[in-house]
Amino acid sequence: MCGIVGYLGNANRNGVDVILEGLTRLEYRGYDSAGICFRNEKSELLTIKSVGKVQNLKSLLELNKNRPISNMAIGHTRWATHGEVAEKNAHPHVNGKLAIVHNGIIENLYELKSYLQAEGVQFSSDTDSEVFLHLTYKFFNSGASLKDAVIEAFKLIKGNSAFLVIAHDLQEMIAIKRVAPLVIGRNSYQSEVFVSSDPFALIGYADQLLFPEDEVVAVLTLEEEPQFFELNGAASKRFSTQNQQMHYSDLGKGSYEHFMQKEIFEQPLLIKNWIHHYLEGQGKKSVEELTKLLSIRPEKIGRIHLVACGTAWHAALLIGDMIERTSRIPTNVQLASEFRYKNPILHANDIAIFISQSGETADTLAAQELCKRADLFTLAIVNVANSTLYRNSHFNLLTHAGIEVGVASTKAFTLQVLTGYLFSKILKEREGFDRNQFKHNVYELLQNMERGLDRAGEIAAIASELYSKKGFIFTGRGPYFPIALEGALKIKEIAYVHAEGYAAGELKHGPIALIDEEMVNIAILGSELFEKTLSNMEEVRARKGIIFAIAPKEFSEVRPRLGNHDFYFPLEYGKEVDLNPLYVSTLMQLFSYYVAKMRGTDIDKPRNLAKSVTVE
Ligand code: G6P
Repeated sequence: MCGIVGYLGNANRNGVDVILEGLTRLEYRGYDSAGICFRNEKSELLTIKSVGKVQNLKSLLELNKNRPISNMAIGHTRWATHGEVAEKNAHPHVNGKLAIVHNGIIENLYELKSYLQAEGVQFSSDTDSEVFLHLTYKFFNSGASLKDAVIEAFKLIKGNSAFLVIAHDLQEMIAIKRVAPLVIGRNSYQSEVFVSSDPFALIGYADQLLFPEDEVVAVLTLEEEPQFFELNGAASKRFSTQNQQMHYSDLGKGSYEHFMQKEIFEQPLLIKNWIHHYLEGQGKKSVEELTKLLSIRPEKIGRIHLVACGTAWHAALLIGDMIERTSRIPTNVQLASEFRYKNPILHANDIAIFISQSGETADTLAAQELCKRADLFTLAIVNVANSTLYRNSHFNLLTHAGIEVGVASTKAFTLQVLTGYLFSKILKEREGFDRNQFKHNVYELLQNMERGLDRAGEIAAIASELYSKKGFIFTGRGPYFPIALEGALKIKEIAYVHAEGYAAGELKHGPIALIDEEMVNIAILGSELFEKTLSNMEEVRARKGIIFAIAPKEFSEVRPRLGNHDFYFPLEYGKEVDLNPLYVSTLMQLFSYYVAKMRGTDIDKPRNLAKSVTVE
């Protein structure tokens, strides 16, 4: 949550433009407000902030007749934690001498704030971040270098944060982090240095990326290579270097109206690339290594914990189910925010799998840490290479979903489940992993998905009949239950309408009370337990609920009409296919997309949400 970006360079590029472009790319991290602070030629720090999206900040700057030009600037896009959404709480926080931007939470805020107030410090915002400004200034003003002042202030704060600090009279930026993401960018052709919460903001600017580890302070100037120090002041080697792997082509939404729409429609191509990568490309090595690692007898593995948040948790539910069905190894699927505080029962022969798009979700990282301390083998199914989760895992399976810009996750979910499917197959078959059969199964999904997406018009037509209804209850059994949960989450997130996902058999234990002529039941009928789910659907029909049924095509011959709206898919009745839930999930993604579009919401940046949740 919150995106920070910084620029220090020569006169060939305007730092203000770099910051605005960076903030636009980081907007997925929060869009409650945006702000920029830059140093002008008189060595003054000037700040412009605005509530709402980065576009508002850009418009403000455009109104300014003298477009600001600067070679040192920092910027921030906010997801509010402490303090309402208001200009005074927007970052950067500045006191004339210093300016800071912050991503994270200062947990001992009240204690530090009272201490500073007792010393006469006046606060101009309600944020926790401002505490860091005043603490740093206190040390800086007493003669410490900016680096040392940041170190001293950082030592006093609790919680996970990343900070970027500049001073009006210095050509340097100081960056530091604990858990929250932070990357430094350099390029080979110009003397300039960048800072960001995500390499994504640095595409086209920096070709070399440096990732400082936790509690390593980075001193960035134009004269020298980035310098790194430990909190005790000693030079540090605790950082890693990597070339930028993202490209300009990853940035746009092509001919699509929304990123979410593009991301739904690009799934078949991504699946094709994904299977090529793992079976024929560079990922073959990971498959071989994983096969070796898992070539222990299944009885030697205790339990497999699968831990994640949000959509990734729904992927974990599906993957857990796949593992239990195929290998009969018990799984424990948990929400990271619960798992980390429940004193989970962990044994050294357990395996812990963490699933995450960003690899930066605070609760997931904490759960990973807990498992590592208990000596578990940890594996991440993660989209962002070099993210914190990735770096801290014993083994990684990258999902290769590409950059997901839409805040509501779609393609990342599909590729998380597929990657988990790969894990479950290797776990079951080990040395005998049948690549051809695996490829066949994935291609079957791919083709069905392509055909499903070709029928997007049918889903849009159903959405046009239902979008204004009071609420949606998604139901499914077995592997379609997580799909029901995910379908409901998607529609809540982007269409702002109440929705719930339920195991079909649970409907009568409460939610059936909600059924009336204005309530829609999206009944997902797989091939397994078809009749049972059908009975649950009938219970809704008897109470005049509106039914949108999604069911195997074969059944249409037995019973041409199931609900008020039907969508039949090409699955042989009685023959469940491992990956069919993912096909149905694509239909659900389309449905929520069209409902949101008809309700006129901000699909790619739904209110109150952020894509990367780096606070607990
Ligand atoms: C946020 C996002 C969700 C995502 C969840 C977990 O809530 O809006 O789309 O599923 O975080 O994020 P992760 O990056 O760990 O998958």
